Amino acid sequence: MPSTNLEIGQQVFGGDVVGVVNENALFTDHKIMIEPGVQGTLKTLPVAGNFNVTETLCVVETSKGERNIRLAHFWPVRRPRPCLEKLQATQPLLTGQRVLDALYPSTLGGTCAIPGAFGCGKTCISQALSKYSNSDCVVYVGCGERGNEMAEVLEEFPALTTQVNGEGPELSIMLRTCLVANTSNMPVAAREASIYTGITLSEYFRDMGKDVAMMADSTSRWAEALREISGRLAEMPADQGFPAHLGSKLAQFYERAGKVTCCGSPDRNGSISIVGAVSPPGGDFSDPVTAATLEIVQVFWGLDKKLAQRKHFPSVNWNISHSAYDKVLIDYFNGQDADFATYKKTIKTILQLENDLIEIVQLVGKDSLGEDQKATLKVADIIKEEFLQQNAFSLYDCTCPLIKTIGMMKVICAFYDQCKKAVTENTSSGKPLTMAYIESNFGAKLIKEITEMKFIMPNVPEAEIAAQLDSLAGRIVDGFRAAMNE
Ligand SMILES: Nc1ncnc2c1ncn2[C@@H]1O[C@H](COP(=O)(O)OP(=O)(O)O)[C@@H](O)[C@H]1O
Ligand SMILES: [Mg+2]
Repeated sequence: MPSTNLEIGQQVFGGDVVGVVNENALFTDHKIMIEPGVQGTLKTLPVAGNFNVTETLCVVETSKGERNIRLAHFWPVRRPRPCLEKLQATQPLLTGQRVLDALYPSTLGGTCAIPGAFGCGKTCISQALSKYSNSDCVVYVGCGERGNEMAEVLEEFPALTTQVNGEGPELSIMLRTCLVANTSNMPVAAREASIYTGITLSEYFRDMGKDVAMMADSTSRWAEALREISGRLAEMPADQGFPAHLGSKLAQFYERAGKVTCCGSPDRNGSISIVGAVSPPGGDFSDPVTAATLEIVQVFWGLDKKLAQRKHFPSVNWNISHSAYDKVLIDYFNGQDADFATYKKTIKTILQLENDLIEIVQLVGKDSLGEDQKATLKVADIIKEEFLQQNAFSLYDCTCPLIKTIGMMKVICAFYDQCKKAVTENTSSGKPLTMAYIESNFGAKLIKEITEMKFIMPNVPEAEIAAQLDSLAGRIVDGFRAAMNE
C-alpha cells in the first residue's frame, strides 16, 4: 500500500515512508522507506500492486540523477544506519525470566551480556528471550555454535504462539523472528558477517519504528574469528592472541543498540536491545572477550557453573550480576506496584545476608544462629528455590508475566516481615515464637502455598493472578496474627 500523503514534486529524504507491505498477521506494517542518504524530489508516485524486491516502486530525482526506489536496498553492514537522535530508554525489556525482570532488568534499547561457561544456560536464556520478550521483532544470530541448536530453534519457534496486544488469534512467533544461522562448521570469517548482518537487519526494523531485540549466541565465537583473521593479516597480537582492537570492535557493535528517533516522516521511535552471549573458556570471566564486553554493556547477567551443576536454572549468579538501568526503570516498576522498590531491596538484602550467615553456619553450625537469622536463612531458601529458579521446559514456568513476578515478590516479603516480627516481638503468651514452631505448625501450610505460587499458569488473566497472590499475602498476615494472639 502506498502512503497517501505523497505528491509529485514533493521533497523526500532518507527514512521517509512511501508505503507499507503487509508482511503477515503479526508483522502487519513492513514499511518501505527511502534509503538513508537519498534526498530529492518525487518524480513518480508509488502505486498499490504486486511487486518483487527488484522492481521500481517510484522514482526520486536527486542532484546526482534519478534514483529508483525499490522494496529492497543495499546497505554496507559495517556502517551503522543513521538516526536523528539517540534517546534515553525508559521502558523495560521484559524477559519473562523472574530473576532478570525483578532483580536485573534491562531496557528496550539496552545492552546486555550473558557470560557463562559451557552448559550454564546461555542458549536457553537467549532462546527464552526470543520467545517471550516484549519486543516487536526478534533477530536471533546463531554465531559459531552447534548446528543442532539452530535446528532446535527452527523446530520449536514455529510451534510457539503469541497474540497481538494480548487479544485476537494465536499467531506463531516465527512471524516476528529473523534467524541468521551460522554454525560451528561454517567458515570462521562468516561469523563476522553474521554478527554484522544481524545488527544491520535490526537497524532496518528499528528504522520502521519497531522495538527490536537482537540475540547473538555467541560473541566469543566472533572474537575468535577476529583473532584468526588478524593472525592471517600478521597484526600484532595482544592478550591471548586476540587483536589489540578487540575492545573497540565489540564497542562499535554494542553502540549500535539504543532507543532512537528514526529519520524521515512520519515521526517514529524505534529501539534495538542487544543480548550477547559470551562463552569464556572454563567460565573464567577474566578472559579478554568477557573483560572487554563487561566494560561496554550496561546489564550483566553472570551465569554460574556451580549453580548450573546444582540444576539451579537460570543459573544467574546474584552476587555478581548487575544492571545499570535500575534508576531509569524504577518509575515504570513502581507504577506497576507502588512497593516494588521495597520488595526488590528486601530480596536483595536477604540474599546478601544469607551469604554471611552461611559462613557462620559452616563454621559453628546452625544452632548458634539467632531466631531472626534463621528466618532470614529460611526465606533465602524460599527465594532461591521458588523465585529465582525457573524451569524453561515446564509449561507453568517457561515464562513469567510481570504481574506474577511482582505478586510473588510481595508474598515472599510479606512472609519475611511476618516471620521477623513473630520471632522478635512477644506474643500474647509473653514470649516470641521460634522458627521451628512456625515451620512445624501454622506456617507449614503457608510455606506449602508459597512453594506452589510458581504453578500459576502464565496464560491466566492478569487480574486473576494478582487476586490469587494478593489473597495469599493476606492469608499470611492473618495466619501470623492469629498465632501471635493464641
Ligand atoms: N532455564 C532453564 N531451565 C531448565 N533447564 C535449563 C535452563 N537453562 C539451561 N538448562 C539446562 O542446561 C543445559 C545447557 O544449556 P545451554 O543453554 O545449552 O548452555 P550453554 O549455551 O551455556 O552452553 C540445557 O540443555 C538444559 O538442560
Ligand atoms: Mg550455547
